[in-house]
Amino acid sequence: MTGLVKNISLQQVPLHRILPLRHNVLREGRSREEALFDGDDAPGTLHFGAFISEECACCLSLINSSFEGKPAYQLRGMATLPEYAKKGIGRTLLDFALSTVDHMPVWCNARTESVGFYVKVGWVENGTPFNIEGIGPHLTMLYLPDKLS
Ligand SMILES: CC(C)(COP(=O)(O)OP(=O)(O)OC[C@H]1O[C@@H](n2cnc3c(N)ncnc32)[C@H](O)[C@@H]1OP(=O)(O)O)[C@@H](O)C(=O)NCCC(=O)NCCS
Repeated sequence: MTGLVKNISLQQVPLHRILPLRHNVLREGRSREEALFDGDDAPGTLHFGAFISEECACCLSLINSSFEGKPAYQLRGMATLPEYAKKGIGRTLLDFALSTVDHMPVWCNARTESVGFYVKVGWVENGTPFNIEGIGPHLTMLYLPDKLS
């Protein structure tokens, strides 16, 4: 990690602390409402942020879901501020979030341009690419902890 990343604070936070970053990176130019996801307010949903001073540099959310009939989380809203990208913040925040949920299985619909990130952090591809209207091509990625394999 760079010296910069050593100064980050990893926190589980209310949605409002991460929503501006999610909106700016993932729904740029759209309404704030379009940055809200089904499940954001559901019981058990967890929101995480990596903060540098008071600035949210990276965010993600874990929403209760299932995978192959077993409890799992869906990862949504994973985003790093462009000026902090590829400095290890995404990996660090994801590791923190996964440790918080005792490394439950997690899946996400990843933008194809981000698939390389998920591969780097040990996730595996599942299925074939598909399109999400208005957003673009995606691929489902899985995090399957060793205890399940
Ligand atoms: C994808 C994203 C969240 C990654 O966050 P990040 O903070 O840059 O990730 P890290 O720096 O921890 O990257 C970990 C590794 O993945 C690599 N990586 C990061 N983004 C990548 C990408 N888009 N493609 C391929 N590799 C990538 C890094 O270079 C690093 O590799 P290393 O271990 O060899 O050094 C960030 O680039 C982003 O916000 N992208 C735009 C929004 C987006 O597409 N979000 C995902 C929606 S599914």
